[in-house]
Amino acid sequence: MVTIKSEHEIQLMREAGLILAEVHKRLGEEIKAGMTTKQVDRLCEKLIRSHNCEPSFLGYEGYPASVCVSVNDEVVHGIPSDDRIIMEGDIVSLDTGVIWKGWQSDAARTHAIGKVSDEAEKLIEVTRQSFFEGIKAAVPGNHINDIGRAIESYVKPFKFGIVEDLVGHGIGREMHEEPEVPNFYTKRKGVKLQKGMTLAVEPMINAGTWEVAWMEDDDWTVYTRDGSLSAHYENTILITDGEPEVLSLLPEEKKLYNVR
Ligand code: MF3
Ligand code: CO
Repeated sequence: MVTIKSEHEIQLMREAGLILAEVHKRLGEEIKAGMTTKQVDRLCEKLIRSHNCEPSFLGYEGYPASVCVSVNDEVVHGIPSDDRIIMEGDIVSLDTGVIWKGWQSDAARTHAIGKVSDEAEKLIEVTRQSFFEGIKAAVPGNHINDIGRAIESYVKPFKFGIVEDLVGHGIGREMHEEPEVPNFYTKRKGVKLQKGMTLAVEPMINAGTWEVAWMEDDDWTVYTRDGSLSAHYENTILITDGEPEVLSLLPEEKKLYNVR
């Protein structure tokens, strides 16, 4: 069942989204070469709790941290570790979520650490832009597959691979609600978009092929089969009667990206 949120519920999800946007902004300012991925996790948990929120990832299906930290060829769900040191030239995807008064927000950003390759820079930018292209199709009357179609047609000319094993999702009281939101074209149209639906749209894009695998020793970390770099960009959005509202961006970011 796809839930339609009331105006009051939407207001709480807006608050959750703004807090999450602020957490991501601070993480982006603080992440540096020489830090361990575990230090990023400790900072993230502290930031989330400082806003009187709960870290939604911590303990989710046994996940042991507040943030997923996925470096270079890691796509998503990288587990923070005292042994993993972030290096100059790395790209690092941070995916985290908050629970505020029972309501969830989920967002991800990929950061360049110092100077990165031209390919890495391009990948980060195309992944971010693919989200904004995708949500242009997130208007009432369209279907779920219009979002993936828009992402795919934007990404295709760059010859990057779109990950197909993981998809976006509805979000609300639960982090993962119906419907699934693929980042690629599917024949199945999916549900018709309606005002009051809230979705997490989250393209995961590889510099090489779309194929990924799960790390055997932790059963969480997803990495690219061909060893190529991967980037991730995600926000929680609200379907309105016009353009979607992006709940997990700061006002200045909305202005920068020209979204509602
Ligand atoms: N943000 C992820 C998603 O969009 C969820 C991370 S799974 C967790 O589905 F276990 F780390 F929480
Ligand atoms: Co998500």
